[in-house]
Amino acid sequence: MLSQTHIDTVKATIPLLASAGTAITEHFYVRMFKHNPELKNVFNMTHQKSGRQPAALFAAIAAYAQNIDKLDVLTDAVMRIAHKHTSFNIQPEQYAIVGHHLIETLRELAPDDFTPEVEEAWTAAYGQLADIFIKVEGELYESRAQKEGGWKDFRRFRVVSKTPESELVTSFVLAPVDGGPVIDYLPGQYLGVKVRPQGSDYDEIRQYSLSTSPNGKTYRISVKRDGEVDAAGVLSHYLHDHVNEGDEIEAMPPAGDFFLQQSDAPVVLISAGVGLTPMQAMLDTLVQQQTQRPVSYLHACIHEGQHSFKEHVKSLQSALNLTVYTWYERAGELKEGEFEGRMDIAAIKSQLPLNDGEFYLCGPLPFMLGIKQQLLDAGVADNQIHYELFGPHQNL
Ligand SMILES: Cc1cc2nc3c(=O)[nH]c(=O)nc-3n(C[C@H](O)[C@H](O)[C@H](O)COP(=O)(O)OP(=O)(O)OC[C@H]3O[C@@H](n4cnc5c(N)ncnc54)[C@H](O)[C@@H]3O)c2cc1C
Ligand code: HEM
Repeated sequence: MLSQTHIDTVKATIPLLASAGTAITEHFYVRMFKHNPELKNVFNMTHQKSGRQPAALFAAIAAYAQNIDKLDVLTDAVMRIAHKHTSFNIQPEQYAIVGHHLIETLRELAPDDFTPEVEEAWTAAYGQLADIFIKVEGELYESRAQKEGGWKDFRRFRVVSKTPESELVTSFVLAPVDGGPVIDYLPGQYLGVKVRPQGSDYDEIRQYSLSTSPNGKTYRISVKRDGEVDAAGVLSHYLHDHVNEGDEIEAMPPAGDFFLQQSDAPVVLISAGVGLTPMQAMLDTLVQQQTQRPVSYLHACIHEGQHSFKEHVKSLQSALNLTVYTWYERAGELKEGEFEGRMDIAAIKSQLPLNDGEFYLCGPLPFMLGIKQQLLDAGVADNQIHYELFGPHQNL
């Protein structure tokens, strides 16, 4: 239990954290990977290079410090992070390692300000936050293990089919090597996938959204070949180039707090590029549910050659009350519902359920920022908008 003195001391040192900024973050990770190189098997080392993950972790710690006396403000963020952590199989004992390096980082970077009182307060505060995560994550692990087809830790899967969906995206269907069933998931959730590329010293763990409705036997993920030749994404290229039918990979049970809500409200799915994968799971599930809900699907991509699942989505129009709009940055001959250029909500706003719809967004960060603003400008309320980012989370 934190004392009032701990709380006051943590709050008083927020400016110290803020002034040190990313220096703390960088120092922390360099320190942690030097002393605990085994954690390179857990963290995405490319995110370390690009600085995105370090920023996410420290934004979370700063938000925690700011809200340390009203923790209920953090519930949604804690759930989101806990879901992400469980897709990496983060374990309680790893919290002590992270906590140790966090405290030592503060000591090394601000030796004069890091008095015994500050150390005691931050140690207690971190301990409280760690306990919250350990409890929530423990419950998530346990509930997934209990469900039909559920499991704990990484489970081995065999690739039973590998199918190109467009120039850049390939689907992999995965079946458990043990032959058992698999747990159902909510459409929009993702798998944590682990692979050790041949010749590499470290495991790579990445998240991939499940790209069709649950069937109890297999999972399908659809992976984009990410990044240009000089900065090729490690695992997506490896999956495309070296993982074939018959090969094995490992996966954690489905996780994630971005999923289609159970309701009667009209649904608007909005994606760009490979951000269409969770939308496929939602569309296929809506078909399975034989829903009467009006569904609009807005998708943007560079050109038709990169438009995955185009024919599949078209085929769903006979089973769903579905209207499809597509934007191509480079268009050929435009058909009905197709536009050239960037997605423009204003162009179709009269046909969208702006007041009572549920809006689901997934795509690159600049796209999401732009579309969210367009939706707000069109009169959609913030709480109607749900979104997923394919990388370290950031508030839009
Ligand atoms: C919840 C969630 C769901 C996801 N669902 C999907 C999905 O359905 N389909 C899908 O394809 N992806 C999905 N992703 C993204 C996926 O997890 C991976 O991030 C993606 O495949 C890239 O991984 P990688 O190993 O290929 O690239 P990484 O090696 O992790 O590199 C990431 C990016 O950094 C760039 N990069 C490389 N070197 C540098 C450098 N030095 N500095 C800066 N940048 C660099 C790479 O080009 C690449 O674009 C999802 C992510 C999340 C969090
Ligand atoms: C109280 C302590 C911790 C806090 C506040 C915290 C916070 C965060 C946040 C905010 C993210 C980004 C989540 C997102 O993208 O939605 C994240 C991701 C992650 N965390 Fe934690 N975390 C903590 C402890 C740990 C521990 C103990 C480990 C394991 C050693 C860990 C491993 C990871 C990994 C691997 C990721 C994903 C990194 C990536 O995508 O590059 N975290 N954490």
